[in-house]
Amino acid sequence: MGDKEAFSSLRGFYDILPEDACKWSYVESVTRDVFFDFGFKEIRTPILEKASLFKRSIGDTTDIVEKEMYTFSDRKGEILAMRPEGTAPCVRAYIEHKLYSKGGVARLYYIGPMFRYERPQKGRQRQFHQIGAELFGSKDPFADAEIIDLSYTILKRLGIDDVLVEINSLGCKNCRSHFKEILKEFLLKNRDRLCSDCLLRMERNPLRVLDCKRDAHIVKEAPSILDVLCDECRIYLDKLMDALSSTSIPFVPNPKIVRGLDYYTGVVFEITSKHLGAQNAVCAGGRYDDLVSSLGGPCVPACGFAAGLERVLLLAECGRVSKDPFIFGVHIGYEAKRKVFCIIEDLRKNGIPSIMIPDDLSIKAQLRNANRERARYALIVGEDEMSESKVILKDLVIGTQESLPMELVKEEIEKRFKIYKDGSFEVLKNG
Ligand code: HAM
Repeated sequence: MGDKEAFSSLRGFYDILPEDACKWSYVESVTRDVFFDFGFKEIRTPILEKASLFKRSIGDTTDIVEKEMYTFSDRKGEILAMRPEGTAPCVRAYIEHKLYSKGGVARLYYIGPMFRYERPQKGRQRQFHQIGAELFGSKDPFADAEIIDLSYTILKRLGIDDVLVEINSLGCKNCRSHFKEILKEFLLKNRDRLCSDCLLRMERNPLRVLDCKRDAHIVKEAPSILDVLCDECRIYLDKLMDALSSTSIPFVPNPKIVRGLDYYTGVVFEITSKHLGAQNAVCAGGRYDDLVSSLGGPCVPACGFAAGLERVLLLAECGRVSKDPFIFGVHIGYEAKRKVFCIIEDLRKNGIPSIMIPDDLSIKAQLRNANRERARYALIVGEDEMSESKVILKDLVIGTQESLPMELVKEEIEKRFKIYKDGSFEVLKNG
């Protein structure tokens, strides 16, 4: 094996190169704006946690904990895990810092990398990124509606509207255990048709069979949890759907949504897109009223969601995103180089993205570089321009050029263009 392969990145782990990174930051900044509008505050938790946190919260018999966690022991023998999701760390921090002590509702959000040892495919990585939010302190269907509205609004602001919100209820302890019995009975009757994984799941975590793609034909005939919900759970779900009906969010009940994490109680949902292939959930979440207390905190109900950033990026329109420089300074001779350095420094201070090549290259080579960097305008200063106190502003797309007074470059550029933070610009009519 050559050195190149020996040091290549790990399977399922990716570099995000500049042309994509600008789309990432665009999506992140739109998302942060939506969180702000909804009153959510950012929390940043460590990537490493005690593995026991995830075992206790996500559940010992889930795929995430059994097969997908990156765990290792540190030098003192403590078993650690790279976080596979953001809810458990958020709840841990909520308890550890007594964020409940203020009372009322706490709204937290996070954006960051998560790690799961899964088989990589389109929309599935081993290091992936989640945008997530958790709402603590309310057990009202309008809190669930707010979380669904929040996740849908993020997608919508990114131009993603061809999605469907699929809602289910996993019921309370009583209706869930009743449903598990009925489901187990059905699965036992059909055991000869189940895949080997589901034979195990049937014993340990029967609800997960409803999620199995291989057994979809059997799942179709399985009993529906919606038929066994107790009155309270039924009414809760109806109220949530009533709240959502007053919005333009497209949703359907889907009794097959069971989620792969054990902490859920009651309402769960997924937002799916038919443009994503097999991994069609762009967003998922639900209510987890027992998690705070089971991790040692007070009895605080909560609900939340997380969206996979990679999947959001597969669907988002990032058309206006360009982090290309607007001005590319071109200089011939030492005095011109000093002048260009000083002009583009002033332009940058005024929010006009501008760069230059530090080296002394020919005009042709510098213009070639300007095109490679996809700059929109070249600002050219040579000996003639120095003696006339002028600069040439050359449109690198159309090819036209004009001469501007050297000391008024910034003002003249500002008269002609409105330049946005994302690198895009508008030509002003009266420029
Ligand atoms: P989850 O369904 O495991 O839920 O993940 C949420 C989203 O993360 C998925 O819908 C998907 O978009 C993305 N995702 C998950 N695994 C991968 C992967 N290997 N590669 C790429 N994207 C992936 C949770 O994590 C819960 N913590 C959500 C939640 C928050 N529930 C309540 N609050």
